[in-house]
Amino acid sequence: MIRDPKDLKRYEPAERANHWVVGISFILLALSGLAFFHPAFYPLTQLFGGPVWTRILHPYLGVLMALSFAALSFRFWHLNKMTPADKAWLGRVGEMVSGDDHNMPEQGKYNGGQKVLFWALIGCMSLIAVSGLLIWRAWFGFDITLVRLGAVVHAAAAAVMIGLIMVHVYAAIWVKGTIRAMWYGTVTRAWAKQHHRGWYRQVTGK
Ligand code: HEM
Repeated sequence: MIRDPKDLKRYEPAERANHWVVGISFILLALSGLAFFHPAFYPLTQLFGGPVWTRILHPYLGVLMALSFAALSFRFWHLNKMTPADKAWLGRVGEMVSGDDHNMPEQGKYNGGQKVLFWALIGCMSLIAVSGLLIWRAWFGFDITLVRLGAVVHAAAAAVMIGLIMVHVYAAIWVKGTIRAMWYGTVTRAWAKQHHRGWYRQVTGK
């Protein structure tokens, strides 16, 4: 991938490192969590040193993801506030999905879709973290009714979050030139002008 000195900085190294800790811990949690969810996924426990180690490691990885996601969301909180332009963008999202994003309303650093995803992730992550603590019986001894409720909420919120992250990763790959923002911290000027014109004007003054 060719990098140009005229490229625009989109992420600081600390932001990218924070994002990748969240991303990698999420993948490990999804693999180990699916192994508990259905026998078809049970062989995945071999990736973690067998079933006992999978059972021990999963909640600690969960703590890592919850804390690193909390840090990530504090960093990006102010950039995800919904504006009337975002609502207009969401109202015309069909045009973009059908492949024509040339006349979409102007966007700041993030578009309406990214913002909806951000708040949905906050909701899922909160449910997963609280319910995870309820069912972490190695450390806590909550009432069995709460543990049962926690198990259902944990599995349901995790299933929704796996779906949301599939959309997130698909969008990052589908919108050409986006993934490099998280590898190198930069994007091309053409990418910024095309997908986030408001942000482009803000950082370039043009
Ligand atoms: C594991 C594969 C993942 C890939 C390939 C990926 C890729 C990316 C890319 C390329 C961006 C930059 C988008 C832009 O600047 O417009 C981004 C932003 C972001 N990612 Fe990920 N990501 C992954 C996992 C995750 C996970 C697991 C989470 C959270 C649970 C997450 C949360 C975020 C957030 C919050 C942003 C900033 C967007 C916003 O604040 O609205 N990502 N990701």
